[in-house]
Amino acid sequence: MKKTISATVSWVGKVDWELERFHGDEYSTHKGSTYNSYVVEEGKTVLIDTVWKPFAKEFVDNLEAEGLLSKLDAVIAQHGEIDHSGALPELLRRRPDLPVYCTANGVKSLKGQYHADWNFQVVKTGDEYDLGNSKKLVFVEAPMLHWPDSMFSYLTGDAILFSNDAFGQHLATEKLFNDLVDQNELFHECIKYYANILTPFSPLVIKKIEEVLSFNLPLSMIATSHGVIWRDNPAQIVHKYLEWAKDYQEDRITILYDTMWEGTRIMAETLARSINEASPETTVVAHCLSKFDKNDALTDVFRSKAVLLGSPTVNKGILTAVAAILEEAKGLKFRNKKAAAFGTYGWSGESVPLLTKALGEAGFTVVDDGLKALWSPDSSSIEAISAYARGFVEKI
Ligand code: FEO
Repeated sequence: MKKTISATVSWVGKVDWELERFHGDEYSTHKGSTYNSYVVEEGKTVLIDTVWKPFAKEFVDNLEAEGLLSKLDAVIAQHGEIDHSGALPELLRRRPDLPVYCTANGVKSLKGQYHADWNFQVVKTGDEYDLGNSKKLVFVEAPMLHWPDSMFSYLTGDAILFSNDAFGQHLATEKLFNDLVDQNELFHECIKYYANILTPFSPLVIKKIEEVLSFNLPLSMIATSHGVIWRDNPAQIVHKYLEWAKDYQEDRITILYDTMWEGTRIMAETLARSINEASPETTVVAHCLSKFDKNDALTDVFRSKAVLLGSPTVNKGILTAVAAILEEAKGLKFRNKKAAAFGTYGWSGESVPLLTKALGEAGFTVVDDGLKALWSPDSSSIEAISAYARGFVEKI
């Protein structure tokens, strides 16, 4: 249902409390999400983005019930991904005359997904949509935030930046604004979202933010496409993004591992205990990858200055949960992270050299050849693991 944001802007999106997985099964959404859609009612009435496909009919029915469907003069499709464009087919079935403003890449992605030849109006950075009443929407292309087709829209007068995926978070809430929700929960979801979605595009994040800041535009709100609208000090999330985009790290070490018969688990626990003894001010976390949420593990990697990755040797290789996290890490292109490998073995012992090589290929700075333990660690192995942990702390 319609909720007021400013004198002429309303939220008309969908709160998805049930959502547990996003991007297929790739991203865990423990707190649900929202698909934010906005309507600007000036001389012209314009819809900015829609909602995910399962909610298309409900969304367009709501627009009709609010008397908005027949009033619309245009729809702005800031990003073609289906969580924002999913209601366009239903909307345009009922309003086929409606122009669709999007980037040139937006046309490609919308045509590619919906196979429809809508009334596309291609825009680029600096183009404007005249809303009447001396107000306009100014478009800013934002490629890779999140897809090559993404763009922002800036509403003059109200000074609202509609940022689509950028500055969002997967957080279902009926509270529209950032100052009305639990701050720890909010920033946890923000950093998880950045770590798992935007990390590979950090250089573009910096460039785009610097470009937008150079316009010296007043900013009263950042209206994202997921989660809350930033109205209380909206610049705070911009500064967080700049911090996260610039080789971010905390005084934190993350230990990720999987285990078959507990030997590698004992190594992980010994490493955690010994790192804590050697460097009490450092936060240490250890996660068993076959049990722990993958996206939460990757968030910890993003926050860390160093990572220890462990697997026993299995069939001259590594366990699949560990292989999966390496594949994710390779794509996310973490920077400014040191790393090393560890693992138990009974016969051939390939896991540690394989992990060491893979960590380097994924962009980590590998500090040594890693740590092997034969069979299940005994007391002398435990002492060797502790000594290794002390040395690891020295190296980072
Ligand atoms: Fe929220 Fe890239 O879609």
